[in-house]
Amino acid sequence: MFLNEYNMKKILITGGAGFIGSHVVRLFVNKYPNYMIYNLDVLTYAGNLENLKDVELSKNYKFLKGDITDEVFINNLFTEYQFDGVIHLAAESHVDRSIKDPLAFAKTNILGTMILLNAFKNLWNNNWEGKRFYHVSTDEVYGSLGETGLFTETTSYDPNSPYSASKASSDHFVRSYGETYKMPYVITNCSNNYGSHQFPEKLIPLFINNILNDKSLPVYGDGNYTRDWLFVEDHAVAIDLVFHEGKNHETYNVGGFNEWKNIDLVKVLCKLMDEKLDKPKNSSEKLITYVKDRPGHDLRYAIDANKINKELGWKPSVTFEEGLSKTIDWYLNNEDWLKNVTSGDYQNYYNKMYLEN
Ligand code: NAD
Ligand code: TYD
Repeated sequence: MFLNEYNMKKILITGGAGFIGSHVVRLFVNKYPNYMIYNLDVLTYAGNLENLKDVELSKNYKFLKGDITDEVFINNLFTEYQFDGVIHLAAESHVDRSIKDPLAFAKTNILGTMILLNAFKNLWNNNWEGKRFYHVSTDEVYGSLGETGLFTETTSYDPNSPYSASKASSDHFVRSYGETYKMPYVITNCSNNYGSHQFPEKLIPLFINNILNDKSLPVYGDGNYTRDWLFVEDHAVAIDLVFHEGKNHETYNVGGFNEWKNIDLVKVLCKLMDEKLDKPKNSSEKLITYVKDRPGHDLRYAIDANKINKELGWKPSVTFEEGLSKTIDWYLNNEDWLKNVTSGDYQNYYNKMYLEN
């Protein structure tokens, strides 16, 4: 049969112009020519269509500009396109911003998710065969670990920041639609991602950008906070796998088996930057400045990713050394991208976060 937009399987990816979303869109557009991939994004400061230049002309790709919190728009969109599957990534995603403006996080992450769930429910009206709602979430919903232990899929939710509270709430709503309306859903809770196209407000790209601009590297508190880092392309592969092979009504934790204390990670990053920029030893490290701690700062996140490994055969394919080196190379080779996203409002953001406290 000749495939066209109307008889192909239709997948809506929300937040596809952002960091992780753009990697997921790229993977799906290239890997599944028989799917029509719709990227719905309102293009906040974190959304950037330049992230998808390489696939924007593909026949099985369409960009739809719009806001997931606009109920009328979303309902009309679902009626018009009849999406078979939704992979939901659109969110406000930065903890520090959530501390400054928690309501924006409630609106997008909770209300926006509910509006999508409702539109999907009303569209299929119990005819769930072949349909699936995939909610992309974070390990931060589990709160903070002490020095030992790992988050499993049965760890109780215990969010501490407005960001993680809003994601936890959205996870609960997804689950409730599964229980109440029998909506087929899957959720993944993933650890910290790093890689290309990440907005330079998160630790790794912020510090790369600051080193390039000879600016200080603001390490919060004593720097002894621990995160579990995963290369973003490995996360996209996990999303593909769970979308196709995950069991309905299940949650899978996704992580890098790769814990780093912030200060140790920053020192490795500094060393790599010196080498790649041909700078004298320790010159980047000299930029490290300890600054006031983030309020409610979670001490440690670490994921037990054994379920997705055992049930679906997923594991990270890239070592941290390879991933970090590739990531730095990408930012060094794409200084225009960095310049574009850090022009305009970025300076106001930076001053508000780091200079006015
Ligand atoms: P990001 O901030 O880079 O991108 C978010 C995207 O969503 C942007 O393109 C933005 O324009 C879009 N968006 C925001 N509000 C919207 C709205 N109202 N309507 C439509 N689009 C909107 O985020 P990211 O880091 O790529 O994270 C993507 C998802 O993965 C989020 O749900 C986040 O909670 C989750 N997650 C992120 C990480 C991480 O380390 N970055 C880890 C685990 C889970
Ligand atoms: P971040 O990249 O914001 O991710 P998250 O808060 O979702 O884990 O931060 C990663 C870690 O780095 C976290 O412990 C906070 C710390 N951090 C700093 O020390 N300085 C910074 O400027 C930023 C942005 C983060």
